[in-house]
Amino acid sequence: MTQLAGHPGPVVCFDPSAPEVQRDPYPSYHWLLRHDPVHRGVNGIWFVSRYDDVRAVLGEDRLVRQGIRDFWSQLVGPGPLSGILSRTVLFQDEPDHTRLRSLVAPAFSPREVRALVPKIDRLVDELVDPSAERLDVVNDVAYPLALGVISAVLGLPAKDRDLFRAWSLRIGPTLDLAAGPAEIADGQEAMTELTDYLTDLIRTRRGGDDLLGVLCADSAVSREEVIAMVVTLIFAGHETVTNQIGNGVLALARHPAQLSLVRALPDLVPGAVEEMLRFDSSVQSNSRQLVEDIELQGKTLRSGELVVALMGAANRDPLRFTDPDRFDVTRSGVHPLSFGSGMRHCVGAVLARLELAAVFRALVRLPGWRLAADPDDLQYQRSTMFRGVLSLPIAFSAQT
Ligand code: HEM
Repeated sequence: MTQLAGHPGPVVCFDPSAPEVQRDPYPSYHWLLRHDPVHRGVNGIWFVSRYDDVRAVLGEDRLVRQGIRDFWSQLVGPGPLSGILSRTVLFQDEPDHTRLRSLVAPAFSPREVRALVPKIDRLVDELVDPSAERLDVVNDVAYPLALGVISAVLGLPAKDRDLFRAWSLRIGPTLDLAAGPAEIADGQEAMTELTDYLTDLIRTRRGGDDLLGVLCADSAVSREEVIAMVVTLIFAGHETVTNQIGNGVLALARHPAQLSLVRALPDLVPGAVEEMLRFDSSVQSNSRQLVEDIELQGKTLRSGELVVALMGAANRDPLRFTDPDRFDVTRSGVHPLSFGSGMRHCVGAVLARLELAAVFRALVRLPGWRLAADPDDLQYQRSTMFRGVLSLPIAFSAQT
């Protein structure tokens, strides 16, 4: 029989911002999957959890982003956050969504991304230092790698990496529908600083081989849209990968037999990465608004209502995955929904997979590594959408 995680009680009204859900959403997901796969939760929002339903919702034309953008714009109020981010590709519907997506998609095609492999490998070699004995996987490895790679694609100065990280950490929480007033005020300030920085940078750029040069040279794209795209790519291109590296390391640390297996058989790394994405995705959900009524699992979801597709739950759906709570690096045909599905499928999925494979190839080689923190003390980022720890120290036997 499929082994499912226990849950303290029925989920009466699912709230992804509840502290216990933020710490470990999987017991609640299992309750939803088993008892109420299309669930009316906090603020009347619909939460969809089964694999097939999540995929259908993400690929459905009658579910759009405009209502989410309006809801979010109201939440953060007038100011630089909504001024810039209401223009991001993430919040657009057709035709603007496809127009903006197609400006950047070619730069992340498999061919273009393959050309980045030497750069990625070099960065991994620099960051995963076998003589260090101790590393904070999130801050010493994951974030410099992910930000280094996306900065190289965009043509952003590598020396300003820490500035981008700091702005991103202050702006990220405001994208959450559960953001509070203090986070929003700080995010507004950070967005002003970042916009000023990018405006200066763009002023001196015309043309060039990198993506920023290409965007600046395109007369059909407004200055605000260029800034919104750069902010989106910095954020989407590094927070997600950073958190996924942390979540993957935690999964391996908690399953030492699986770690030993990948260490013994490095060819398992790409499959192990798919399993890490499935087992504990750095992006847990995506939201949409209905523009027509739809029927799902015998329920009628009405036009205007908000729907959250829980990819984190879908990735543990027992109807799709045998023994879904087992972390198994040899699992085949995984196809996690962590990168979304349909026309909004993640632009950076090929790049993210390459970065994850490169870093895990190096990390599993470190001998005798173990967590250097009590798992109960790990602090998760406060977000209903993103999942990842803020710091993750590991210790290992140093090699000289
Ligand atoms: C493990 C890493 C990553 C995960 C889990 C992830 C996840 C996702 C998901 C779930 C979506 C779909 C959003 C929706 O349906 O509304 C998405 C879209 C997107 N991602 Fe990623 N992502 C990752 C890495 C990256 C990277 C490295 C980039 C850099 C290029 C990137 C850029 C984007 C962009 C631009 C979109 C918008 C696509 C659109 O709206 O058409 N992502 N990502």
